[in-house]
Amino acid sequence: MSAIITNILCVVGARPNFMKIAPIMRVFKRHETTLAATLLHTGQHYDAAMKKSFFDQLHIPEPDIDLGVGSGSHALQTAEIMRRFEPVLDDLKPTAVLVLGDVNSTISCALVAVKKGIPVIHVEAGLRSYDRGMPEEVNRVLTDQISDLLFTTERGAEANLLREGIAAERIHFVGNVMIDTLRYNLDRAIEPMALFSSAGGEIEPENFSAGYGLVTLHRPSNVDNPANLKCLLTELRSISDRLPLAFPVHPRTAQRIKEYALENLLNSPRILRLPPQGYLEMLGLMRHAKLILTDSGGIQEETTALGVPCITLRENTERPITVDEGTNTVVGTDPEKIRTCVGEVLGSGGKQGRVPEYWDGRAAERIAEVIINWAQQR
Ligand code: UD1
Repeated sequence: MSAIITNILCVVGARPNFMKIAPIMRVFKRHETTLAATLLHTGQHYDAAMKKSFFDQLHIPEPDIDLGVGSGSHALQTAEIMRRFEPVLDDLKPTAVLVLGDVNSTISCALVAVKKGIPVIHVEAGLRSYDRGMPEEVNRVLTDQISDLLFTTERGAEANLLREGIAAERIHFVGNVMIDTLRYNLDRAIEPMALFSSAGGEIEPENFSAGYGLVTLHRPSNVDNPANLKCLLTELRSISDRLPLAFPVHPRTAQRIKEYALENLLNSPRILRLPPQGYLEMLGLMRHAKLILTDSGGIQEETTALGVPCITLRENTERPITVDEGTNTVVGTDPEKIRTCVGEVLGSGGKQGRVPEYWDGRAAERIAEVIINWAQQR
């Protein structure tokens, strides 16, 4: 059969998209005689620490197109991405648009594509927290409804999609591209000691070298409300008496801490505040942590793959396999519950867990195979 050139327009927008696109671009390149990829960045995340360091470290090709939308309210950001994305589709006329995850860039570009009759491919489909208060949940449900090919990371996701009326033949369980990236880069992870030694100020590196916890916080429900944020930071301060904490602070969270004048809660020789970290630095920090306290989605999966105990500071998770099979415990934000869970993890070493099916570093390869077959049958 003669080679079919399928032009896939791959969209990224925000930090969690970058680690997911890296293996896809690498594998598509290997199939370039049948699969041509164009990379578009919406510009939702634009700071060097939120974007450039990931492209550099993960060898993601520079985007062919950058829409440069920047930040804004959900409505403004979504509308601006859609407005700027439409002429790109008119110009490129891709075979399909590939979107990842659940950020505003995902739904914005999927919506423009489907209205133009261009098939949408959704990587990381079918995850559900069943909490419509989360903006990402709305993005997930809507993107899945308008996608032609849906790639899932865990088997439960297929059941969610079938319940929502998605045809079974559109759904493909391929595994987790974020774990492709983790496996591919594990040997390159940057050891965290240098971060501790160069911290300066009140920080005593030897406290951290004896064992530390890692914290990330950025969900609007946790950081956009002064009382909630104060309560969480107070609890972190108290945990740091038992275990020193490294805390790379997301820009949203940094703004809120300043705005609500909560810096004093973090002024401690046992809390190392850091700017957003690169992928390899974060991998090193995660790998050696005694435990991780987080409200991130991706870190729940990465800790499961690494076998590091994860305490999730949310009331729910869209990634239940990390609880059922992995090292994740969803505790919510009640200080008493967090304290108890931290005590248990420090006492017992935490859940052992196992690595879920197909989190084997080959998800992007499976995705490419399905797309090639799909394109040949159209
Ligand atoms: C977005 C995603 C979230 C993801 C997170 C990872 C949505 C709805 N949310 O949340 O799912 O987990 O990214 O980081 O898409 N900012 C900067 N520099 C940047 C980008 C943003 O300083 O490069 C600041 C801006 O003040 C901005 C704020 O961070 O207003 C929030 O950025 P935004 O993209 O709206 O959402 P995130 O909280 O980053």
